[in-house]
Amino acid sequence: MQKRPVALITGANGEIGRSLIETLHRDGRYRIVTLDLSPLPEKWRPLCHETYAGNILDRYLLDQLAAHHEIEAVFHLAALLSTRGERDPELAHQINVEGTLHLLRMAQSLTMRLDRPVKFLFPSSIAAYGIPTLAQKQAFGRIREDQGLEPITMYGVNKLYAEHLGRYFMRHYRMLAANSERSVRLDFRSVRFPGLISAETVPSGGTSDYGPEMLHAAAQNKPYACFVGPEAQIPFMAMPDAIKALMSLLDAPRERLSLPAYNVGAFSLTAAEFVARVKKAFPNAQVTYAIDPARARIVDSWPADVDDTAARNDWQWSPDYGIDRAFDEYLVPAIRARYRD
Ligand code: SER
Repeated sequence: MQKRPVALITGANGEIGRSLIETLHRDGRYRIVTLDLSPLPEKWRPLCHETYAGNILDRYLLDQLAAHHEIEAVFHLAALLSTRGERDPELAHQINVEGTLHLLRMAQSLTMRLDRPVKFLFPSSIAAYGIPTLAQKQAFGRIREDQGLEPITMYGVNKLYAEHLGRYFMRHYRMLAANSERSVRLDFRSVRFPGLISAETVPSGGTSDYGPEMLHAAAQNKPYACFVGPEAQIPFMAMPDAIKALMSLLDAPRERLSLPAYNVGAFSLTAAEFVARVKKAFPNAQVTYAIDPARARIVDSWPADVDDTAARNDWQWSPDYGIDRAFDEYLVPAIRARYRD
């Protein structure tokens, strides 16, 4: 029997990574190899073919990975998120840009070795957008992929640039080399995720974290001080839909893909509406506002919602979890169960 191909997941121990491991394992078409700074916890290891604890900046380690595994798909999830990135912008640049460059280079050399395009799946973010004023934010409404691209965080700048890097590797890498027009190049695919909310994990280091943080706090009967004001609005998405987006994009026929990076929407709500949802589910929730002006400013620079027409047209994107279903059928019951007893 032919060995199944390998999918590499970087940042596998993060929020998206853990869910993706479960889905890819159920899906069964790949043997899963993971890379994360911290060792993968015992629960997820049996689902993986091999797990590595190491740094994506370690080129020697990446070379070893490429030498030992016929990687056909890379899910490059490792990143330093937006709030942490503002605390250490140079480190964010190293991880988010140099790290991504290393992974792209590795995927490109595998592409040449296998003589077929390695798929490179990359989570970009609404942080790639940067809207100067609230009036403009309101005027944009559901933003298109080509609008408002002046990110104000290092993380957003890094994500936007990494989208360009991916497009470059896919279409133009070493364009002056002899026979360049005949060379095989990797297959880069990216989605700009809204703020993600998982019932399993509390995020760390992000700026959309106020949503999931208040929900997880309420379920544990802990008070929560929200760092943005009640009017602050961005799109959110439940984790199962984020995984669905990655899997659908993985499966989309290449010739259908017209953009290097796609918006994917699910629902959008203000912080006040978020608080109301939390209080409906957990009537004793104690949520107050303690606005952190800098973090609030970041949220204000992100779009209120996204126009995901291109994803819907090109690869039939449609979320399973609208706002009611996300809260009533996924988040609230699963978070309640998580903290029971
Ligand atoms: N959720 C991320 C953050 O807040 C945005 O992609 O940094």
